[in-house]
Amino acid sequence: MEPLTLGIAGVGTVGGGLLELLTTNGAHFANIVGREIRVTGVSARSRDKLRGVAIGGFQWFDDPVALAKDPSNNVFIELIGGEDGVAKAAVEAALQAKKHVVTANKALLAKHGIELARLAEKNGVALNFEAAVAGGIPIIKTLREALGANRVRRVYGILNGTCNFILTQMQSENRPFAEVLKEAQALGYAEADPTFDIGGFDSAHKLALLTSLAFGTKVAFDQIHVEGIQTITEADIEAADSLGYRIKLLGVAAETETGIEARVSPALVLKDSAIAEVSGVTNAIAIEGDFSGSILLVGAGAGAKPTASAVAGDILDIARGLIVPPFVTPVAKLKPHKRAKLDRHYGS
Ligand code: HSE
Repeated sequence: MEPLTLGIAGVGTVGGGLLELLTTNGAHFANIVGREIRVTGVSARSRDKLRGVAIGGFQWFDDPVALAKDPSNNVFIELIGGEDGVAKAAVEAALQAKKHVVTANKALLAKHGIELARLAEKNGVALNFEAAVAGGIPIIKTLREALGANRVRRVYGILNGTCNFILTQMQSENRPFAEVLKEAQALGYAEADPTFDIGGFDSAHKLALLTSLAFGTKVAFDQIHVEGIQTITEADIEAADSLGYRIKLLGVAAETETGIEARVSPALVLKDSAIAEVSGVTNAIAIEGDFSGSILLVGAGAGAKPTASAVAGDILDIARGLIVPPFVTPVAKLKPHKRAKLDRHYGS
């Protein structure tokens, strides 16, 4: 079988992790999908990060859009980030060139998901985005494929590793917010602009994708109520503690009598619940399906290796010829929500 050829745009934390994974486990791929997976083109702002990567032989591109159009690769891997600009232009160019696309870009999909999904479907190619939500946790495949037969009643969880890391350190080690944020940035967990993390927007980007997959709504980031963790004080933490709760930043999408409600906000979770125990950069997502019952997925929500694992899983699906439509045609509406307060209890 012909090798599957990859053009990788962006060699930051995740791109670096992907190159390491392809180097370490590349030989194993031929066994599991029956064909070689080869990197034929790379574009990156700095080439320094590629020192020490043992997969040579690829061509350098300064312009990601040129890489997206180049016929030497048949799968385009977008790891640039950003909701517009060059990431969007490159993904569109790749889809128009009838190439499969794998992306970790939740901001891009939260804003342009439906339009890009239509372009992928029109061109008969995959648009895979497992790495866009919760790093190494296989939540996209779980919702779209494994639980596809269910009517989902509620999906909620810890969707941002940086916030969970900060809240964990604040609550268990009494460390100040700013100091822990700096550490999360140094560890490569935080977004380029950490306001996306602490302001709840990164969680909301991910929740927009989960809500669409779980309930068949349009991907609609702008209809999600967003509150971050910047305003949480020591007094809040102490009050929650004395009442038997921990504070977690949760993304929640739920069926209500009047429509689908989706929001991101700090929430009180019972101290002895499974979700309260989720600490550090770990993410956790609970799904309540009508036939499956409740399922809780827990794992690393950020970082080079777990996120690269999700990207590579999407590449393997393409190598196997498995092409699943990215989103369903919207059937449900998100309802305008009320302001959420620190008054919702989770966990049992
Ligand atoms: N900044 C994100 C987080 C990275 O902290 O979860 C993964 O999307």
